[in-house]
Amino acid sequence: MTKDNMRGQTVFITGGSRGLGKEIAKILVSRGAHVTIFARSPATLEQARNSIIAHRLDQRQEVNAVSVDLSDASKVESVFKSQPRTPDALYCVAGGSAAECGFMTQIQPSDLDTCMKNNYFTSAYAAQAVLKSWTASDDAPARETLNRKVRRIVFVNSVAALCPLPGYTAYARGSSMPKETRASSCSFPAAAKCAVRALADTLRMEVLRYSNSAVTYKIHCAFPSNFISESFIEEQERKPALTKRIEGTTGAISELEKKFPSAEKMAGKILAGVQSGDFAVCDDSVESGLFWANMVGTSPKRGWGVVDSLYAFVVGLFVWPVLRRYFDSLCRADGE
Ligand SMILES: NC(=O)c1ccc[n+]([C@@H]2O[C@H](COP(=O)([O-])OP(=O)(O)OC[C@H]3O[C@@H](n4cnc5c(N)ncnc54)[C@H](OP(=O)(O)O)[C@@H]3O)[C@@H](O)[C@H]2O)c1
Repeated sequence: MTKDNMRGQTVFITGGSRGLGKEIAKILVSRGAHVTIFARSPATLEQARNSIIAHRLDQRQEVNAVSVDLSDASKVESVFKSQPRTPDALYCVAGGSAAECGFMTQIQPSDLDTCMKNNYFTSAYAAQAVLKSWTASDDAPARETLNRKVRRIVFVNSVAALCPLPGYTAYARGSSMPKETRASSCSFPAAAKCAVRALADTLRMEVLRYSNSAVTYKIHCAFPSNFISESFIEEQERKPALTKRIEGTTGAISELEKKFPSAEKMAGKILAGVQSGDFAVCDDSVESGLFWANMVGTSPKRGWGVVDSLYAFVVGLFVWPVLRRYFDSLCRADGE
C-alpha cells in the first residue's frame, strides 16, 4: 500500500509530546502534514516539537506545540478554536502511560477518577471540540463534489480494553503528568479504555449523520499491544509479577526491547491500519487480532470480516477456555 500523501492536511495529536503520539507526529510530518501536538508539560512539548520539525518535507509545514490539560473541559474547545488551522484529522493518543501498576486493593479511589480524566475525558473533549467545529463549517453540498473531504478521528486505545489483566486496575498517573503536578495517584485503564472504545463505537454511528457527497466522517479505534515507551519502562518497575507473567513482560528491559516493538514501529502500524479504512486498528501481533475478534460486538469487523469471524470462532471455542483456566491458576497461585 502506498503511503498516504498528507500534503496540505492538518492533524491535531493529543499526547503528541512523548512516546506513540510523538512518533505518529513525525511520520505524518514526513508525509507533508501540518501537525499540532497537545500535552501538559511545556518543556517536553518544546523538545518534541524540535524533533518533529526535523522530519518536515517542506519549510512551509507548520509544527505547533500547545500546552493544555485536555481533561479540563473548560479549556479544550477554546484552545482548539484558537489554533491557526482547522484539523482534517484528530489523533487522540493522550492517556494511560502506565507508571504504576497495582491491584484494586492497592490503589486509591481518586485514582479511578484520574484515569478516567487522562484516558477517557482527554479523548472525549478533544473529539467533541473538533466535531463541533467541523459540523459548524460543513455546509450541505450544493452538488456532487469530485474531491470529497475526509474528516477523521483516531482513538488510540489498548489491547487491555479487550482482555482482563489483573494488576492493570492501576495505571500510574506519575509519568503521564508534568513533574510539577505529579501526584501519587494512579489510574484505571481497563474501565477508562473500555469507555474510549464505547465512545468510538457510538461516534462511528453518530457521524454518519454528517457525511454527505462532499465530506466523509471516519472514526477509528486502535488497540495496540505493549510497545516500548518511557511510560512502559517506568510501568515495569511497579508492575506486579503476576501481571508480567500473564502478559509476558517478565525479564530485563533489554530483553523486552527485543520482544516488543518501539513506539516508532507501533506508530507505523497504526497509521497503516488507519489507511486501510477499518474501524478497528489492530497491530500485527496475534493477540491484538484475536482479542479484537473475540470482542467485536456490534462494531464492524475488519476487511471483509472473514478473518475476524474465523478468529472469533477459534478464540471462543478453544483459546479462551484454555487461557482463562491458565490465567485463573496463575492468580490463585499468586495469592498463596
Ligand atoms: N506503551 C504501551 O505499552 C501501550 C500499550 C497500549 C496502549 N497504549 C496507549 O497508547 C497511548 C500512548 O502511550 P505512550 O506509552 O506513548 O504514553 P506516553 O509516552 O506517556 O505519552 C502520553 C502522552 O499523553 C499526554 N497526556 C497525558 N495526560 C494528558 C492530559 N490530561 N492532557 C494533555 N496531555 C496528556 C502526555 O504529556 P503530559 O504528561 O506532558 O501531559 C504525553 O504526551 C496511551 O493512550 C496508552 O494508553 C500504550
